Amino acid sequence: MKEKLLAFFNEKELFISPEALEALLQTEQPLENAKKIAEQPGKLFIELKDVPTSKPKITVERPANKALASQIDTRIREFDEYNITGKSASSGKIEDFISLFQSRFEQLSKILKARGNAIRDIETLKKKKPGDIVRIIGMVNSIRTTKNGHRFLIIEDLTGTLNTLIIERNKPLMRESYRIIPDEVIAIEGKLSKDLFIVNQVYFPDIPARESHKTEEDIYLAMISDMHIGSKLFMEKNFRKFLNWLNRKEGNEKQKEIAGKVKYITIAGDLVDGVGIYPGQENELETENIYEQYSKLAKLLEEIPEYIELISIPGNHDATRVAEPQPAVRKELMEDLLALPNFRMMGNPGQVSLHGVEVLMYHGASIHSMVPHIIDASYEKPEKTIAEWLKRRHLHPVYGEKPPICPEKRDYLVIDRVPDILHAGDVHKNGYITYRGIIGVNSGTWQAITPYQIKQGHAPTPCILPIVHMKTGKLSVIHFEGGLT
Ligand SMILES: [Fe+2]
Repeated sequence: MKEKLLAFFNEKELFISPEALEALLQTEQPLENAKKIAEQPGKLFIELKDVPTSKPKITVERPANKALASQIDTRIREFDEYNITGKSASSGKIEDFISLFQSRFEQLSKILKARGNAIRDIETLKKKKPGDIVRIIGMVNSIRTTKNGHRFLIIEDLTGTLNTLIIERNKPLMRESYRIIPDEVIAIEGKLSKDLFIVNQVYFPDIPARESHKTEEDIYLAMISDMHIGSKLFMEKNFRKFLNWLNRKEGNEKQKEIAGKVKYITIAGDLVDGVGIYPGQENELETENIYEQYSKLAKLLEEIPEYIELISIPGNHDATRVAEPQPAVRKELMEDLLALPNFRMMGNPGQVSLHGVEVLMYHGASIHSMVPHIIDASYEKPEKTIAEWLKRRHLHPVYGEKPPICPEKRDYLVIDRVPDILHAGDVHKNGYITYRGIIGVNSGTWQAITPYQIKQGHAPTPCILPIVHMKTGKLSVIHFEGGLT
């Protein structure tokens, strides 16, 4: 190389000092650097100071740092037949109530019948002799404890009504009886006596043994709910951290890697705080206009990369009817949201398949009518109520309590398709359960504790994000309430 350099400078009629030559030889590309030096006009002598001392900067072309999920095609199937939006046909007449309960009975008895054994109509029991063992399917009319400590259960089917008794000394069944709730459909097995039917066994429709679906792709589902945009208590700073994380600007390397794999976000209702939801709510609102509340949400969700699909349902604070099933919010109220290419809203409940993984979304307000009737259900552990919905294959069995049920021709609250994931919100308390292979999630909230919740003694868990790795079915959480953990 030394000779080459000397020959080069000779040809250019330039003189180079021994020190400069030595320094030039130490650089990464001596000949290239020699050419650069020679190009400088008016140079005759090349000294040490003319030689670049630092190694030349090597620029490497990096491939664009793309999120993995951005390379994966969207595969969403909405189960439209379970979406009430645009289909509500109820006029609130007596016939509507009859068809709602018939629909519930038929759908759930079909599931119970699939478990086998001869099922009889109540009417046919008249022909049976005392002592015969029979199994029937019925809707629970009422259940109460008798003076002697037995449980008196009246059930009915399309052919008649039956008085039944769970005997106090049958301890396991007594325990089970404290989870029997009005208006649900169950199967009972028992012995006929002269005037009564003594129950030996109770069967809930329940979830059959099955293999849950997973994706082939290495992607995540993130679940949020109850942002309550428009409320002064919306935790915007924390929500922005979540948005930054999705953009891989927040969190440690592992968390950023996961963020790049988030392909879907489900939103289980209470997107906004709404207007006129309860007396005095206006004092808690920052934005009193419902259009502006949805627009503000649109502004925030706009920050989410477009390759992440947002699938939402309404909740009881959203601008739709409170009675369930709830249709999606009317389009004209959320134009800015619908202008986002990756946003969609179904009714509540709503079910989708994401690459074959089925996600049932339900806001969850029926917890208010489940907790008083089920012995170990509580607001503290909303996941227990999720399991109870699955067990009875119904999201809101108790009629006549909160929230109201709209008498549609078909019962949209029956869990007809078995989901892989059930995502709920409403009580602002995170909770997780795996029930017969189904991942049940309550995704909590992004709103700080409200005066109402303080009065009720509720303890919300804001800004904790549940995520499911759809390839393995593994659930984990990311905390946005402080630093990212
Ligand atoms: Fe809420």
